[in-house]
Amino acid sequence: MSEATTTTATGAVNIFDLMELARSKQDVISMGLGDPDPATPAHIIEAAKRAIEAQPAGPGPAAGLPELRQAIARKLKRDNGIDADPESEILVTTGGQEALFLLIQTLIEPGDEVIVQDPRYTSYDDAIELAGGRMISVPTREEDAFDLDPAEVERRLTPRSKALLMISPNNPTAGIVSPANVRRLADIARKHDLIVIADEIYEKFIYDDAEHLSIASLPGMKERTITLNGVSKTYAMTGWRIGYLAAPAEFVRAATAIKEMINVQAPVVSQWAAVAALDGPQDCVEEMRQMYAARRRLLLDALDDMGFTYGMPRGALYVWANTASTGIEAIELTRLFLDEGVLIFPGTGFGEGWGDYMRMTLLQPIEVLGEATNRMRQALAKRRAASE
Ligand SMILES: Cc1ncc(COP(=O)(O)O)c(C=O)c1O
Repeated sequence: MSEATTTTATGAVNIFDLMELARSKQDVISMGLGDPDPATPAHIIEAAKRAIEAQPAGPGPAAGLPELRQAIARKLKRDNGIDADPESEILVTTGGQEALFLLIQTLIEPGDEVIVQDPRYTSYDDAIELAGGRMISVPTREEDAFDLDPAEVERRLTPRSKALLMISPNNPTAGIVSPANVRRLADIARKHDLIVIADEIYEKFIYDDAEHLSIASLPGMKERTITLNGVSKTYAMTGWRIGYLAAPAEFVRAATAIKEMINVQAPVVSQWAAVAALDGPQDCVEEMRQMYAARRRLLLDALDDMGFTYGMPRGALYVWANTASTGIEAIELTRLFLDEGVLIFPGTGFGEGWGDYMRMTLLQPIEVLGEATNRMRQALAKRRAASE
């Protein structure tokens, strides 16, 4: 459940405190948490109602309802070019968040190194730390639109390197690992016997001419890739708590055993809703993508106007902007904006070296976002007047 967990063991900013402060104020527009604001599409809700009335409430298999695993297998084949056996290579989880914890606990032994993009979705930091693993971060840069440079990854390999975590489209940067770099990273993974963790939870939200390539679809990669996805972002279903992993059978067996100990299985009604989401009409997803694209345009225009810079956000539900040109650190901007009634997250919530960046979400209706940008302009004007 996204950034409620963004306070890292090492991070300088406690985002819980920030959200608490925002809650104590009146009339705050949140551009903080990354949970989609649209309603879950009606046909998915209808399927859940039918499931409540018709399906037995008792638990099904820990790995997930066979019908949902089959729907996921069809989706992976159709959208991603990944062949996954629904019987043995798919695990349904209680949200993407559980999927990421399960996969790290299953994969990582004490001392193993995991290469991660920086800045990053810091829930993985917590999971890696809990498993006794070591995070090795690879900086990504504004001038590359936060793509992941394979040479930078290769430079950081050691005999302890176990896995490469690739979140694309990325949270918080909204960068995408370009198909050419995905291919080069696959070569590196094969050559150095690395496991790839491919978090593709934002795959459907891609803008302009950007392209998403699933690394598990490349030759020789399915057997060394754990693909993470879910319905929270694609179908605006965060609260339904359905995510999934596709991975080699032995890995899925081990992760399922842990899942069974924790919570037996993902909620059954939500699993039926996820079947309807994956098998049903997909125009709702394209409608949401276009809506987010229009909001993104509005926000980028406003940021240009206010003098912020950014690497072009090519995917996801975020804009990751650089505050350096304004001469005001993001943590101070966060306070100034909150005083005017806008909540954003400072970059230090996503890695220690990101004091000059801020993350804003696209998850408000466009007219509300317009109002938020007016308030941001006002906050900047007041700050400038005060320092003259
Ligand atoms: C990169 C990434 N992975 C996984 C998740 C977890 O998603 P879920 O809401 O399904 O738990 C999030 C949520 O924000 C995310 O940003």
